[in-house]
Amino acid sequence: MAEPPAYPLATGFRSVARLNLQHYLWKQQQGYLIHPAISCMQEKSLKIADVGTGTGIWLLDLSEQLPSTVQLDGFDIDVSQCPPRAWLPSNVAMRKLDIHDEIPKELVGVYDIINIRFFLCVVKDRDPTPIIKKSLQMLKPKGWIQWTEQDLSTCKVVSAFTDADTKYTEQLKSFAIAPTPDWPVNHGSWVASMSETFRHAGLKYIVEDRNEKHSWNLSSSHDITLLAMEEVSLKLGNASGVHEMIQKAALEFENNQRGVALASDRVTVVGMKAGG
Ligand SMILES: C[S@@+](CC[C@H](N)C(=O)[O-])C[C@H]1O[C@@H](n2cnc3c(N)ncnc32)[C@H](O)[C@@H]1O
Repeated sequence: MAEPPAYPLATGFRSVARLNLQHYLWKQQQGYLIHPAISCMQEKSLKIADVGTGTGIWLLDLSEQLPSTVQLDGFDIDVSQCPPRAWLPSNVAMRKLDIHDEIPKELVGVYDIINIRFFLCVVKDRDPTPIIKKSLQMLKPKGWIQWTEQDLSTCKVVSAFTDADTKYTEQLKSFAIAPTPDWPVNHGSWVASMSETFRHAGLKYIVEDRNEKHSWNLSSSHDITLLAMEEVSLKLGNASGVHEMIQKAALEFENNQRGVALASDRVTVVGMKAGG
């Protein structure tokens, strides 16, 4: 069997639209871009990094809320999903970085806040610790990490109707939460214990914010799940016939008036680096 791709999601305009929609849905429900426990926001010369920035949408949205004296740097293995340099605000920059590689010297000890979001397909061996350690290297003493994920250990099939047929949505769930040899996508069992992992990594003042999706959010979130799983199935070459299963789940969703969906908790964990 061919080696699975290092990163199983696609790029291109459909993926960009998926990520941008996901951003606004999460922001609307969470009610913040930076968790209120992060206490350094009043400083004028803040430096904020978004690791695995994707389309750059979190950073660009944040740039609307902060003075132009704040430096906002996005990092990704592929910055082609971001707008071009000429269309970015002057205090926003996007740069290539693989967070699994050694951190370049000029990025060590630079940032007040590191943001990481939607890294289920990036964390290796179900252990976010190496990425937390790299982020700690990039932070100043007393800098903050903010990490946001879905907790798939809470994933369930929900339905707006008592008699809804959910057979294929149940199958979708089993693929979403449990990788198989030919569907080697990390299922994120590590998210449930993220606060504990932060503590082990020496972070302080750890706060976890956890909420279930609002019901109005479920249908659009399910669109995103279907799109993401379709991308993965295409990239993995239709492993285990998963592509057909996704099409059937999509039909089941439509046949139930968009009232059958996967739901899992949304989790943000923040913590402060010691020192200073
Ligand atoms: C699911 S997207 C999330 C994007 C963004 N964080 C957001 O909240 O919209 C994950 C991003 O991580 C990037 N990525 C994958 N592997 C990475 C790595 N080793 N280092 C840095 N970024 C990586 C991908 O290119 C992709 O843009």
